[in-house]
Amino acid sequence: NAMLAWQRTAYHFQPVKNWMNDPDGPLHHLGWYHLFYQYNPDSAVWGNITWGHAVSRDLIHWLYLPLAMVPDSWFDWNGVWTGSATILPNGQIVIIYTGDTDNYVQVQNLAYPANLSDPLLLEWVKYAGNPVLTPPEWIALKDFRDPTTAWIGPDGLWRVTVGSKINKTGISLVYKTSNFTDYELVDHVLHAVPGTGMWECVDFFPISTTGPNGLDTSANGPGIKHVLKASLDDNKHDYYAIGTYDGVKDIWTPDDPKLDVGIGLRVDYGKYYASKTFYDQDKGRRVLWGWIGETDTDDDDELKGWASVQTIPRVVTFDNKTGTNILQWPVEEVKSLRSNNTEFDDVFLEPGSVVDLNISSAAQLDISAEFEVDTTQLNATLDEIKNCSVAALRGAAGPFGLLVLTDESLSELTPVYFYIGKATDGTLNHWFCTDKSRSTEANDVDKQVYGGLVPVLDGENFTMRVLVDHSIVEAFGQGGRTCITSRIYPTRAIFRAAKLFLFNNATDLNVTASVKIWHLNSADIHPFPL
Ligand code: FRU
Repeated sequence: NAMLAWQRTAYHFQPVKNWMNDPDGPLHHLGWYHLFYQYNPDSAVWGNITWGHAVSRDLIHWLYLPLAMVPDSWFDWNGVWTGSATILPNGQIVIIYTGDTDNYVQVQNLAYPANLSDPLLLEWVKYAGNPVLTPPEWIALKDFRDPTTAWIGPDGLWRVTVGSKINKTGISLVYKTSNFTDYELVDHVLHAVPGTGMWECVDFFPISTTGPNGLDTSANGPGIKHVLKASLDDNKHDYYAIGTYDGVKDIWTPDDPKLDVGIGLRVDYGKYYASKTFYDQDKGRRVLWGWIGETDTDDDDELKGWASVQTIPRVVTFDNKTGTNILQWPVEEVKSLRSNNTEFDDVFLEPGSVVDLNISSAAQLDISAEFEVDTTQLNATLDEIKNCSVAALRGAAGPFGLLVLTDESLSELTPVYFYIGKATDGTLNHWFCTDKSRSTEANDVDKQVYGGLVPVLDGENFTMRVLVDHSIVEAFGQGGRTCITSRIYPTRAIFRAAKLFLFNNATDLNVTASVKIWHLNSADIHPFPL
């Protein structure tokens, strides 16, 4: 539908047409990155789920390949659902995925490439003895899905964890195996959090506290913490916590029980779900994928013929400065799309100001902005802030930031901003927000304000990086401590008409901004000529 053509992204991964959801089984093999994804080959809404497949040399430019797996067996008749890949020490690749059976029971199945020497891994074989795991008798038949990448414990056996729930308690079951066909259920869970409901797409990985390097999934020991992430089926958000994994007992414990999985930190505070990491052995980094769903109507999706996009892959590291959160940052390869650099140094933003940066065609941008604020007189006047509110609401020390995907007349605009406030107990807090309330003149789309707290340490300026791609805004606050991904459906702020502004809507705060802006070229995302 030509009417909605501007919503297609230019450098994010999305299929040519139809529905996509979770990223599945990401891996690097013989010089190629592989991305699989939940895909409906028949329509723009969820259903008939298969594994779509695409490959890339650099995580930016992609070739679509034929479907890797389709629902053709009793053990996945109603869908080839989410799963993960594990690369064994001998180079063998195994995938464990959830099958929705002919009877609508969730089971785990094993698959492997027919030909490991094929860099494109075109052909996949489902193990004849599938399923390899069925729900334990004390777990409901529809609450058993999305196995993780496997890791090796101190006893030399592999472990895999699978999300589930008991009543309203979200849990992650652990299985041990030596061969990926026979498994033993560990008699206690890896972790459980009351009130969090069904855990989908659990992700579990080690993270180095001593350096920026990524770790292979089996790494453990001194200088290593473990991140546990769950996608909460009840509220459709991804939550993570940092903690310690005891490989002997197979128990993970959060560093801070008040920030446990599902009740503490979110991977992303916008429209973002079902994320999954993999260890990129080629570049020694841990890379995170996430599914960006739509926030328009199903009817609109059917009109435009497609739904959903994947995020730009993000490198995940531990934040040594705060010690309490991960950092997420777009893979460096995205810089290969940069052209036309424009820079602004020390732009003074007095309270109530909006400054046009005179950037046209601002629908494909990579923006890096730094805000210096004069906080000397602040404490007296600070507002008590409990959440992000619309950017039109003026406070003493916020909001200030960028207006992206903005048209000339400011009738459509999306503020991405900081807000300095204080908590009920009087301590200073900092918010990072994206306000979708004025993003479009269209009516039937979601217009929430997204955001969360962001640590800003003494002596730090406020910094943000923002990737704009037609209908996507990916915002990274303070080096990726807090991230917000938004779907935006502008009707005027499109293509050449899209613009970029700075703003300071605080009443009592002077802000000085420095901004670097790059246009981003479109990525090549092409069908593979077979
Ligand atoms: C998460 C999810 C998974 C499931 C898959 C089905 O979005 O519901 O739990 O495996 O999608 O497509």
